[in-house]
Amino acid sequence: MPKHIILDTDPGIDDSLAILLALASPEIVLDGISTIHGNASTTQVTTNALSILKLAHANQIPVYRGCELPLVQPSLLSPETHGNSGLGYAKLPEPAARPQVKHGSDFIIEHIMSHPGEISLVAIGPLTNVALAVRKEPRIVENVKEVFVMGGAIKYQGNTTPLAEYNTYVDPHAAHVVFHSGMPIVLTPLDVTYDCIFLKEDLNRLLKIDSPITKFIADATRFYMEFHDEYQKIDGCVINDPMTLALTYMPEICDYQDLYVDVDISTGVGLGNTFADFYNYEKKAPNMRVALGVRPRMFMELFLERMEKLARVNS
Ligand code: BDR
Ligand code: CA
Repeated sequence: MPKHIILDTDPGIDDSLAILLALASPEIVLDGISTIHGNASTTQVTTNALSILKLAHANQIPVYRGCELPLVQPSLLSPETHGNSGLGYAKLPEPAARPQVKHGSDFIIEHIMSHPGEISLVAIGPLTNVALAVRKEPRIVENVKEVFVMGGAIKYQGNTTPLAEYNTYVDPHAAHVVFHSGMPIVLTPLDVTYDCIFLKEDLNRLLKIDSPITKFIADATRFYMEFHDEYQKIDGCVINDPMTLALTYMPEICDYQDLYVDVDISTGVGLGNTFADFYNYEKKAPNMRVALGVRPRMFMELFLERMEKLARVNS
Protein backbone atom coordinates (compact mmCIF):
# COMPACT_ATOMS: atom_id res chain seq x y z
CA MET A 1 0.00 0.00 0.00
CA PRO A 2 1.53 3.37 -0.97
CA LYS A 3 1.91 5.97 1.76
CA HIS A 4 -0.26 9.07 1.57
CA ILE A 5 1.84 12.20 1.90
CA ILE A 6 1.38 15.91 2.53
CA LEU A 7 4.46 17.87 1.45
CA ASP A 8 4.95 21.17 3.31
CA THR A 9 7.55 23.02 1.26
CA ASP A 10 9.22 26.28 0.19
CA PRO A 11 10.42 25.59 -3.38
CA GLY A 12 13.38 26.27 -3.46
CA ILE A 13 15.79 24.29 -5.64
CA ASP A 14 16.09 21.16 -3.49
CA ASP A 15 12.38 21.40 -2.59
CA SER A 16 11.55 21.21 -6.33
CA LEU A 17 13.69 18.11 -6.58
CA ALA A 18 11.73 16.63 -3.65
CA ILE A 19 8.45 17.35 -5.47
CA LEU A 20 9.81 15.63 -8.60
CA LEU A 21 11.02 12.66 -6.53
CA ALA A 22 7.57 12.36 -4.92
CA LEU A 23 5.96 12.31 -8.36
CA ALA A 24 8.44 9.66 -9.53
CA SER A 25 7.90 7.35 -6.54
CA PRO A 26 5.16 4.70 -6.78
CA GLU A 27 5.71 3.98 -3.08
CA ILE A 28 3.88 7.20 -2.19
CA VAL A 29 0.83 9.18 -3.20
CA LEU A 30 1.22 12.94 -3.00
CA ASP A 31 -2.17 14.03 -1.65
CA GLY A 32 -1.34 17.73 -1.61
CA ILE A 33 1.28 20.44 -1.15
CA SER A 34 1.18 23.21 1.44
CA THR A 35 3.55 26.09 0.81
CA ILE A 36 5.54 28.08 3.31
CA HIS A 37 7.72 31.21 3.32
CA GLY A 38 11.43 30.43 3.29
CA ASN A 39 13.66 30.17 0.26
CA ALA A 40 11.42 32.79 -1.41
CA SER A 41 8.17 34.59 -0.52
CA THR A 42 5.02 32.51 -0.07
CA THR A 43 3.56 33.98 -3.26
CA GLN A 44 6.68 33.02 -5.21
CA VAL A 45 7.07 29.50 -3.76
CA THR A 46 3.38 28.80 -4.36
CA THR A 47 3.80 29.76 -8.03
CA ASN A 48 6.95 27.64 -8.14
CA ALA A 49 5.15 24.59 -6.72
CA LEU A 50 2.39 24.94 -9.31
CA SER A 51 4.89 25.42 -12.15
CA ILE A 52 6.84 22.33 -11.14
CA LEU A 53 3.63 20.31 -11.11
CA LYS A 54 2.90 21.63 -14.60
CA LEU A 55 6.40 20.68 -15.77
CA ALA A 56 5.75 17.11 -14.61
CA HIS A 57 2.16 16.98 -15.94
CA ALA A 58 0.77 16.68 -12.41
CA ASN A 59 -1.63 19.65 -12.31
CA GLN A 60 -4.22 17.55 -10.48
CA ILE A 61 -2.24 17.76 -7.21
CA PRO A 62 -3.74 20.52 -5.05
CA VAL A 63 -1.49 23.30 -3.72
CA TYR A 64 -2.47 25.21 -0.57
CA ARG A 65 -0.81 28.52 0.19
CA GLY A 66 0.50 28.69 3.77
CA CYS A 67 1.98 31.25 6.16
CA GLU A 68 3.83 34.29 4.90
CA LEU A 69 5.86 35.03 8.03
CA PRO A 70 7.54 33.14 10.87
CA LEU A 71 5.71 33.03 14.22
CA VAL A 72 7.97 35.55 15.99
CA GLN A 73 11.05 36.30 13.89
CA PRO A 74 11.11 38.62 10.88
CA SER A 75 11.08 37.05 7.41
CA LEU A 76 14.39 35.67 6.12
CA LEU A 77 14.40 34.64 2.45
CA SER A 78 17.46 33.08 0.81
CA PRO A 79 18.04 34.57 -2.68
CA GLU A 80 21.81 33.96 -2.38
CA THR A 81 21.18 30.20 -2.11
CA HIS A 82 18.19 29.66 -4.40
CA GLY A 83 18.11 32.81 -6.60
CA ASN A 84 15.50 35.59 -6.56
CA SER A 85 12.80 33.32 -7.98
CA GLY A 86 13.77 30.42 -5.70
CA LEU A 87 14.63 28.19 -8.67
CA GLY A 88 18.14 29.32 -9.59
CA TYR A 89 18.54 29.93 -13.34
CA ALA A 90 15.48 27.87 -14.25
CA LYS A 91 12.62 29.59 -16.06
CA LEU A 92 9.42 27.62 -15.77
CA PRO A 93 6.15 28.20 -17.64
CA GLU A 94 3.26 29.93 -15.87
CA PRO A 95 1.24 27.51 -13.72
CA ALA A 96 -1.74 25.78 -15.29
CA ALA A 97 -3.66 25.61 -12.00
CA ARG A 98 -4.40 28.05 -9.21
CA PRO A 99 -3.75 27.52 -5.50
CA GLN A 100 -6.69 26.19 -3.46
CA VAL A 101 -8.68 28.64 -1.36
CA LYS A 102 -8.03 26.79 1.92
CA HIS A 103 -4.98 27.82 3.97
CA GLY A 104 -2.04 25.38 4.03
CA SER A 105 -2.28 24.92 7.80
CA ASP A 106 -6.00 24.11 7.57
CA PHE A 107 -5.33 21.60 4.80
CA ILE A 108 -2.81 19.86 7.08
CA ILE A 109 -5.36 19.71 9.90
CA GLU A 110 -8.35 18.65 7.81
CA HIS A 111 -6.50 16.04 5.79
CA ILE A 112 -4.95 14.40 8.85
CA MET A 113 -8.18 14.48 10.85
CA SER A 114 -10.22 12.98 8.03
CA HIS A 115 -7.73 10.10 7.56
CA PRO A 116 -6.65 9.21 11.13
CA GLY A 117 -3.38 7.31 11.31
CA GLU A 118 -2.91 7.31 7.53
CA ILE A 119 -1.15 10.53 6.57
CA SER A 120 2.63 11.06 6.55
CA LEU A 121 3.55 14.73 6.79
CA VAL A 122 6.85 15.69 5.15
CA ALA A 123 8.01 19.18 6.17
CA ILE A 124 10.99 20.50 4.21
CA GLY A 125 10.81 24.21 4.92
CA PRO A 126 10.47 26.39 8.04
CA LEU A 127 7.91 24.76 10.35
CA THR A 128 5.41 27.65 10.66
CA ASN A 129 2.43 25.89 8.99
CA VAL A 130 2.97 22.72 11.03
CA ALA A 131 3.31 24.61 14.33
CA LEU A 132 0.17 26.60 13.60
CA ALA A 133 -1.70 23.38 12.77
CA VAL A 134 -0.58 21.80 16.07
CA ARG A 135 -1.77 24.82 18.05
CA LYS A 136 -5.07 25.12 16.17
CA GLU A 137 -5.94 21.41 16.30
CA PRO A 138 -3.79 19.56 18.85
CA ARG A 139 -5.54 16.28 17.98
CA ILE A 140 -3.40 16.04 14.82
CA VAL A 141 -0.59 14.92 17.15
CA GLU A 142 -2.33 11.58 17.78
CA ASN A 143 -3.79 11.29 14.30
CA VAL A 144 -0.80 11.90 12.04
CA LYS A 145 0.99 8.68 11.02
CA GLU A 146 4.48 10.21 11.11
CA VAL A 147 6.26 13.52 10.47
CA PHE A 148 9.48 13.72 8.47
CA VAL A 149 11.31 16.99 9.07
CA MET A 150 14.27 18.38 7.13
CA GLY A 151 16.00 20.62 9.58
CA GLY A 152 18.59 21.13 12.25
CA ALA A 153 22.29 20.45 12.60
CA ILE A 154 22.88 18.15 15.56
CA LYS A 155 26.65 17.60 15.65
CA TYR A 156 27.24 19.39 12.37
CA GLN A 157 27.89 23.11 11.88
CA GLY A 158 25.07 25.39 10.78
CA ASN A 159 24.54 26.53 7.20
CA THR A 160 22.92 29.86 8.12
CA THR A 161 24.77 30.81 11.29
CA PRO A 162 27.75 28.91 12.72
CA LEU A 163 25.25 27.02 14.91
CA ALA A 164 21.95 26.97 13.05
CA GLU A 165 20.49 25.27 10.01
CA TYR A 166 18.28 27.39 7.72
CA ASN A 167 14.80 25.90 8.38
CA THR A 168 15.20 25.96 12.17
CA TYR A 169 16.87 29.39 12.13
CA VAL A 170 14.10 31.00 10.05
CA ASP A 171 11.35 29.91 12.46
CA PRO A 172 12.93 28.54 15.65
CA HIS A 173 9.73 29.07 17.63
CA ALA A 174 7.76 26.93 15.19
CA ALA A 175 10.46 24.25 15.41
CA HIS A 176 10.14 24.42 19.20
CA VAL A 177 6.38 23.85 19.04
CA VAL A 178 6.75 20.93 16.63
CA PHE A 179 9.69 19.26 18.41
CA HIS A 180 7.79 19.28 21.72
CA SER A 181 4.37 18.42 20.28
CA GLY A 182 4.55 14.67 20.83
CA MET A 183 4.22 13.88 17.11
CA PRO A 184 6.28 10.91 15.86
CA ILE A 185 9.13 12.81 14.17
CA VAL A 186 11.97 11.58 11.97
CA LEU A 187 14.56 14.35 11.63
CA THR A 188 16.92 14.68 8.66
CA PRO A 189 19.58 17.17 9.81
CA LEU A 190 22.59 18.55 7.95
CA ASP A 191 24.65 15.78 9.64
CA VAL A 192 23.42 13.41 6.92
CA THR A 193 22.51 15.69 4.04
CA TYR A 194 26.00 17.22 3.86
CA ASP A 195 27.45 13.74 3.40
CA CYS A 196 25.56 13.39 0.18
CA ILE A 197 26.59 15.68 -2.67
CA PHE A 198 24.89 15.92 -6.06
CA LEU A 199 27.91 16.13 -8.36
CA LYS A 200 28.40 17.53 -11.88
CA GLU A 201 28.86 13.89 -13.01
CA ASP A 202 25.41 13.09 -11.60
CA LEU A 203 23.95 16.01 -13.53
CA ASN A 204 25.75 14.93 -16.71
CA ARG A 205 24.25 11.45 -16.35
CA LEU A 206 20.75 12.99 -16.22
CA LEU A 207 21.51 15.26 -19.18
CA LYS A 208 21.94 12.21 -21.42
CA ILE A 209 18.14 12.30 -21.52
CA ASP A 210 16.79 15.26 -23.46
CA SER A 211 13.74 16.37 -21.47
CA PRO A 212 12.27 19.52 -19.89
CA ILE A 213 12.80 17.72 -16.56
CA THR A 214 16.57 17.33 -17.00
CA LYS A 215 16.84 20.87 -18.42
CA PHE A 216 15.06 22.18 -15.31
CA ILE A 217 17.34 20.21 -12.97
CA ALA A 218 20.41 21.53 -14.84
CA ASP A 219 19.30 25.18 -14.80
CA ALA A 220 18.28 25.05 -11.13
CA THR A 221 21.29 23.15 -9.79
CA ARG A 222 23.84 25.21 -11.77
CA PHE A 223 22.90 28.18 -9.55
CA TYR A 224 22.88 25.97 -6.43
CA MET A 225 26.33 24.58 -7.28
CA GLU A 226 27.70 28.12 -7.74
CA PHE A 227 26.34 28.99 -4.28
CA HIS A 228 27.94 25.92 -2.69
CA ASP A 229 31.24 26.67 -4.39
CA GLU A 230 31.30 30.34 -3.42
CA TYR A 231 30.02 30.08 0.17
CA GLN A 232 31.08 26.60 1.31
CA LYS A 233 33.82 25.47 -1.11
CA ILE A 234 31.75 22.40 -1.96
CA ASP A 235 32.03 20.95 -5.46
CA GLY A 236 28.43 20.09 -6.37
CA CYS A 237 25.39 20.78 -4.21
CA VAL A 238 23.60 19.36 -1.18
CA ILE A 239 20.05 18.22 -1.94
CA ASN A 240 18.63 18.04 1.58
CA ASP A 241 14.93 17.90 0.76
CA PRO A 242 14.68 14.92 -1.63
CA MET A 243 16.72 12.86 0.84
CA THR A 244 14.10 13.60 3.49
CA LEU A 245 11.33 12.56 1.09
CA ALA A 246 13.20 9.36 0.17
CA LEU A 247 13.34 8.29 3.84
CA THR A 248 9.54 7.95 3.85
CA TYR A 249 9.84 4.77 1.81
CA MET A 250 13.53 3.84 1.89
CA PRO A 251 14.51 4.32 5.57
CA GLU A 252 17.58 2.12 5.14
CA ILE A 253 19.39 5.01 3.44
CA CYS A 254 20.13 6.28 6.97
CA ASP A 255 21.00 5.01 10.44
CA TYR A 256 19.05 6.54 13.32
CA GLN A 257 19.16 7.29 17.01
CA ASP A 258 16.14 8.03 19.20
CA LEU A 259 17.02 11.22 21.05
CA TYR A 260 15.68 14.13 23.03
CA VAL A 261 16.31 17.13 20.77
CA ASP A 262 15.69 20.78 21.53
CA VAL A 263 16.08 24.06 19.66
CA ASP A 264 17.47 27.29 21.06
CA ILE A 265 14.84 30.06 21.11
CA SER A 266 16.80 32.46 23.28
CA THR A 267 17.96 35.63 21.57
CA GLY A 268 21.72 35.03 21.56
CA VAL A 269 24.17 33.64 19.03
CA GLY A 270 22.64 30.18 19.40
CA LEU A 271 19.19 31.11 18.04
CA GLY A 272 17.90 28.18 15.98
CA ASN A 273 20.65 25.82 17.14
CA THR A 274 19.42 22.23 17.50
CA PHE A 275 21.05 19.94 20.03
CA ALA A 276 20.53 16.40 21.25
CA ASP A 277 20.88 15.09 24.81
CA PHE A 278 23.15 12.15 23.86
CA TYR A 279 24.04 11.31 27.49
CA ASN A 280 20.45 11.84 28.72
CA TYR A 281 21.48 14.49 31.27
CA GLU A 282 17.93 15.80 31.39
CA LYS A 283 16.31 12.36 31.90
CA LYS A 284 13.74 13.14 29.22
CA ALA A 285 12.26 10.60 26.83
CA PRO A 286 13.36 10.83 23.19
CA ASN A 287 11.10 13.16 21.20
CA MET A 288 12.30 12.13 17.76
CA ARG A 289 14.27 9.69 15.66
CA VAL A 290 17.32 11.42 14.22
CA ALA A 291 19.17 10.34 11.08
CA LEU A 292 22.87 10.49 11.97
CA GLY A 293 24.49 8.12 9.50
CA VAL A 294 23.91 7.81 5.76
CA ARG A 295 24.68 5.64 2.74
CA PRO A 296 25.16 8.52 0.27
CA ARG A 297 25.28 6.52 -2.96
CA MET A 298 22.20 4.51 -2.01
CA PHE A 299 20.24 7.75 -1.90
CA MET A 300 21.91 9.25 -4.98
CA GLU A 301 21.32 6.15 -7.12
CA LEU A 302 17.66 6.14 -6.10
CA PHE A 303 17.36 9.85 -6.90
CA LEU A 304 19.09 9.56 -10.27
CA GLU A 305 17.12 6.48 -11.35
CA ARG A 306 13.83 8.14 -10.44
CA MET A 307 14.75 11.37 -12.24
CA GLU A 308 15.78 9.37 -15.33
CA LYS A 309 12.44 7.58 -15.27
CA LEU A 310 10.51 10.84 -14.91
CA ALA A 311 12.56 12.46 -17.67
CA ARG A 312 11.92 9.56 -20.08
CA VAL A 313 8.18 9.79 -19.49
CA ASN A 314 8.38 13.57 -20.06
CA SER A 315 10.84 13.70 -22.99
C1 BDR B 1 17.15 23.63 4.03
O1 BDR B 1 17.11 25.04 3.81
C2 BDR B 1 16.75 25.33 2.48
O2 BDR B 1 17.69 26.16 1.88
C3 BDR B 1 16.64 24.02 1.74
O3 BDR B 1 15.53 24.04 0.87
C4 BDR B 1 16.48 22.98 2.84
O4 BDR B 1 15.13 22.71 3.13
C5 BDR B 1 18.59 23.20 4.26
O5 BDR B 1 19.13 23.86 5.34
CA1 CA C 1 13.31 23.53 1.74
